[in-house]
Amino acid sequence: MLALHGGSPYRDTESRPFPARTPFGDEEIRLVTKALRSQNLFRWGGELTPLFESRFAEAYGVKHAVGSTSGTAALHVAVGTVNPEPGDEIITSAITDLGTIIPILYQNAVPVFADTDPETLTVDPEDVERLITPRTRAIIAIHLFGNACRMEALAEISSRKGIPLIEDCCQAHLTGYRGKLLGTFGDIGCFSFQQSKHMTTGDGGMTITNDDALGRCMRSFADKHYDRDRAGSRMYGPLGMNCRITELHSAVGLAQLEKVGRVVASRNRLGGRLSEGIEHLDGIVPAPVTPGATHSYWSYPMRVTGYSNETFARALNAEGIGASAGYIGDPIFQCSAALAEHRTYGDSRFPFFSPYTDRTFEYADDMCPRTRELLGQLVMLSFNEQYTDGDIDDVAGAVRKVASGLQRVR
Ligand SMILES: Cc1ncc(COP(=O)(O)O)c(C=O)c1O
Repeated sequence: MLALHGGSPYRDTESRPFPARTPFGDEEIRLVTKALRSQNLFRWGGELTPLFESRFAEAYGVKHAVGSTSGTAALHVAVGTVNPEPGDEIITSAITDLGTIIPILYQNAVPVFADTDPETLTVDPEDVERLITPRTRAIIAIHLFGNACRMEALAEISSRKGIPLIEDCCQAHLTGYRGKLLGTFGDIGCFSFQQSKHMTTGDGGMTITNDDALGRCMRSFADKHYDRDRAGSRMYGPLGMNCRITELHSAVGLAQLEKVGRVVASRNRLGGRLSEGIEHLDGIVPAPVTPGATHSYWSYPMRVTGYSNETFARALNAEGIGASAGYIGDPIFQCSAALAEHRTYGDSRFPFFSPYTDRTFEYADDMCPRTRELLGQLVMLSFNEQYTDGDIDDVAGAVRKVASGLQRVR
């Protein structure tokens, strides 16, 4: 009997808890102590930040990496570098964290949302192409949950149309796709070091590029466009931001960079094992893997068809398994008052209503229908790189138990 209906749980987590994630160790402590002992935590003048940035760039085989305070900031550095005109449009995915969208709005551009491809659970390149207008200034491809977007198609559209391609790799650190790493296909790649990410500094971010001009602009934008090469009194360039990383974050980041390969390899293996454990079940769709991708499973997105995803997640919780229904519950444009109600700058409704464009932007309920349907089927399964094979087998076993015992709704 299902634990939800009074049966005993598949896993008794009182006596056998799942491993909690413990990302930090002695090396982080050593390097943070070193940062503090240096008496300078500011990125300029510190030793650790240049080292962290150069090692990060080396890990991705690119020329430039600029550290920042969050994934949102890393994306802000990217969008600020692309420098849209007010009212320009930036096409992105309807499933993401608001951190992808905030920088678009703060740079006075309008987010335009493309639908989701159920085969990859990432943005559908055909829908991206359909949405391009003369005002499209960039595409932000989001490698959701650690799975690759169809990058050949997106890169081809970007180069044919001459539109910059930004990759949001916040959930896809060191993730492979057809022999290259995500973040190196587009013009700019962006990463988050928030606590739940494959490598973490609590909060933090990095923006990478192989292009010298973009790299110079990224570094300058993140530093208020402060002209540090100038002798004498200070001067600033165009409007920038302070997104600077600190030596404390770089200290932790340096230690994390040594581990992230192992974290990603473990998650890839465990996620694959979980998929094998739940394949061929009626009404269960394991996490899709884009052909050619090495999924890094920031999280495990299972879909249920024919069950309520909320009841399924609750039934799993009763079995002792960490699970939640949906990721965001609705497309992102319905999860944020800034987008749904145009609550941005005072009462202006800018940039959705603006003299800088002929269009007005309202996000209709029937936009991105596949995204809505997919989100209504998602059950996110919790695991981390420290799970054993036995732990994963328990997650899979509990999914099988719930799938066979839970009432179908259609
Ligand atoms: C896909 C995606 N983009 C952007 C962000 C924003 O990153 P941060 O929370 O570090 O600002 C996140 C973080 O959750 C994310 O998952």
